[in-house]
Amino acid sequence: MLGEQKVSYSGVQPSGNLTIGNYLGAIRNFKEYSEQYKTFYCVVDQHAITVRQIPAELRRRTYETLALYMACGLDPEKNTLYVQSMVHEHAELAWILNCFTMFGELSRMTQFKDKSAKHADNINAGLFTYPTLMAADILLYQTDVVPVGIDQKQHVELCRDIAERFNQIHPGTFTVPEPVIAKSGMKIMSLADPTKKMSKSDENANAVVYILDDRDTIIRKFKRAVTDSGSEVRYSPDKPGVSNLMSIYSCFTGKSMEEIEREFEGKGYGEFKLAVGETTADALAAVQNEYKLRLADKAGLEAQMKKGAEEASYYARRTLSKVQKKLGFVQLH
Ligand code: TRP
Repeated sequence: MLGEQKVSYSGVQPSGNLTIGNYLGAIRNFKEYSEQYKTFYCVVDQHAITVRQIPAELRRRTYETLALYMACGLDPEKNTLYVQSMVHEHAELAWILNCFTMFGELSRMTQFKDKSAKHADNINAGLFTYPTLMAADILLYQTDVVPVGIDQKQHVELCRDIAERFNQIHPGTFTVPEPVIAKSGMKIMSLADPTKKMSKSDENANAVVYILDDRDTIIRKFKRAVTDSGSEVRYSPDKPGVSNLMSIYSCFTGKSMEEIEREFEGKGYGEFKLAVGETTADALAAVQNEYKLRLADKAGLEAQMKKGAEEASYYARRTLSKVQKKLGFVQLH
């Protein structure tokens, strides 16, 4: 809570191109919060460097991610949109929280285990302490809810544990946040292997639909999507391919699984896949147009970065100085 207002906080890494899984599972839902909550949405460039980045690409993607936030309907007048590295309190609080986080806790994080397996030549300490930086992001703003995809739930739970531990020693320091996992789109699977999550780092380009893919590409990817034996459009665990496509279709149209089954009764997979492709392309067209406009306005994005960082710093500074005082760091006035 900040004053009387509940806070919603989330972040997106400026690494890789965002997928429809990121869109449906997280970003699309951010907008709904701005009516009821004080909202902060961050481009987390400091998290991105836990794996090697090409500097020019990281910089470009930072602009792109901010443009995408705005294109997805996040009004900068109603939401604080900013870049993590521009608010130095994040890294400072992360250090402090490292001293309240156990080695064993960090070792158990599935993302750490997955990423260390994938980047075996670069298992750096930042990859290990990634969750404490994320906890700092969240706790600096006295956050109540954290809308994230299901894969980030474990990190938010660790953040709760850290906040509770700190509060036990220093009562009344942090609001303890709750993860909120979107009902729709929480599990968008790969189009090539529907038992795996759709991931922006998938090597098979046909497995993943990106928010910024053009219409033809989107339709082609859905045409090639793996389906199951039989020919019926039916939502069922023994039809993971078809069920995944139905979930995507349902997210974009708002139709229930029964409605979708009825709509495609007696029609083959081909027709169904085309409909999913066209619907996805139509739904993304508005976001893509707005994105292009935003991205072309570099000065506008930079002005937003500056304004967002100033807004965020105001709150971040207050929480950090409260923490420093509780810890016994000398405060000069
Ligand atoms: N770790 C998140 C991800 O990769 C991104 C993130 C960083 C985040 N800080 C956050 C999400 C704070 C929510 C709240 O998706």
